[in-house]
Amino acid sequence: MTNHQVAPHLFVAFGATSDLMRRKLLPALYHFSEQYGLERRLLLVGVSRQKDLGDDGFRALAREALAAAGLPQTGHTDAWCDACLFFQPLGAGTPEDYRALAARLKALEKTHKFPGNRLFYLATPPDAFGPAITGLGQAKLHRSPGWTRLVVEKPCGRDPESAQNLNHLLQRYFDEPQIYRIDHYLGKETVQNLLIFRFANDIFEPLWHRNLVQSVQITVAESAGVGSRGNYYEQTGALRDMAQNHLTQLLTLTAMEVPVTFEPEAIRSEKAKVLRAVSPVRPEDVVYGQYTRGSVGGREAPGYREERGVAPDSVTETFVALKLGIENWRWNGVPFYLITGKGLPARFTQIAVTFHCPPVWLFQPRPATCSPNVLVFTLQPDEGFDLHFQVKAPGEPLELKTQRLRYRYAEAFGTLPDAYETLLVDVMAGDQTLFVRGDEAEAAWRIYAPLLAERPPTLSYPAGTFGPQEAARLMEWPDPALLYR
Ligand code: BG6
Repeated sequence: MTNHQVAPHLFVAFGATSDLMRRKLLPALYHFSEQYGLERRLLLVGVSRQKDLGDDGFRALAREALAAAGLPQTGHTDAWCDACLFFQPLGAGTPEDYRALAARLKALEKTHKFPGNRLFYLATPPDAFGPAITGLGQAKLHRSPGWTRLVVEKPCGRDPESAQNLNHLLQRYFDEPQIYRIDHYLGKETVQNLLIFRFANDIFEPLWHRNLVQSVQITVAESAGVGSRGNYYEQTGALRDMAQNHLTQLLTLTAMEVPVTFEPEAIRSEKAKVLRAVSPVRPEDVVYGQYTRGSVGGREAPGYREERGVAPDSVTETFVALKLGIENWRWNGVPFYLITGKGLPARFTQIAVTFHCPPVWLFQPRPATCSPNVLVFTLQPDEGFDLHFQVKAPGEPLELKTQRLRYRYAEAFGTLPDAYETLLVDVMAGDQTLFVRGDEAEAAWRIYAPLLAERPPTLSYPAGTFGPQEAARLMEWPDPALLYR
């Protein structure tokens, strides 16, 4: 990207004081403003109902956030904050408050001779989405002399019905090409590379099929607990926080058909088709868990119920393992396992595609179980992929050993960009490839509706273990092919 590809615009961020704003958006915006010389093309207007920080207060908050993100105060960060950051209070969010916002945006555009391009980013708790969308629409801020784009953070609803209601509200004011539903996993370089791996390397296409694939396991494991987010997490749980969005998006990229072109609509349509083909998950194919006091990485860790903001008798799940089926010609009969949890022994995100064992085993002595070929994509950390295969160990008697063909991004390319930076650049450039379309968001909820109607029991597991042992009833877990060690 060059700075000429980013049209001058106002980046209007609702939730200016939020954790997301401090931890992700401000560092990402500063970083690529600097990288692409966007100081004259990108002005950030923080908007908040919490309190009136004023421009100076918001700039001070930004300096702190940049320092906390490892970007210490320099002449450059100061100059960026002073020249590019503004604040507009939203008071009680009345129509008058939105009119004041509209007037402020117009005034900034006039002073900076901007053509009227606006990007609204809702970095707010989900219950503020509705009022913000309505407020923008009623103040006619959904249209402007240039382009207007709206970015919505996950979660898009909390069940099929609320996801549909949110879509209806969005569509009342905005057109689908204006709406960018963020799932930050799609911005991860390694996640995008799934498409390149599959569609730029012809040798894998014939393998990607029920004839050869025995199962697919998608794991997002986190060693941290919920920390200070207990209040939020009590309302969501692992199914809504991770499985319905991040893991389901990884599922679509792993299972989708070859798109006709590498263009946003072609790709998003193939992803939506996968979601339509997934059978609703059966409660008996799901294990929920919640971590109790334990030890993670040699350190004592509190149980979930001891975390701040969590009810002492909470049954919220911090671990989900489930089995899904995709009823289409390519995947019928192949189990897809999705696993995610907090308070596990390590942090890693991996997709393991396990192939069938050879139909006839020629070598003696015959092992009790075969060691199949497995292709493991490690999406984080230590990004890369590994193909597991069998070799003869030197000498006699005959012994087979599993070895790996190994590729690591860091060795080839060094540091990878942050997912938020990638996604923000795409919104600015008007590229919707890595964003979730409205029908995808709704279809992803439909898969999990049976679990919302009939909640599986929540089993406990000590922090620092791999979740409830019952998960092994569904799948090989922890899968020995995983590379978390
Ligand atoms: C967020 C969830 O969407 O993703 C968090 O709300 C989770 O609970 C986080 O910790 C994980 O993201 P990453 O990029 O650190 O794997």
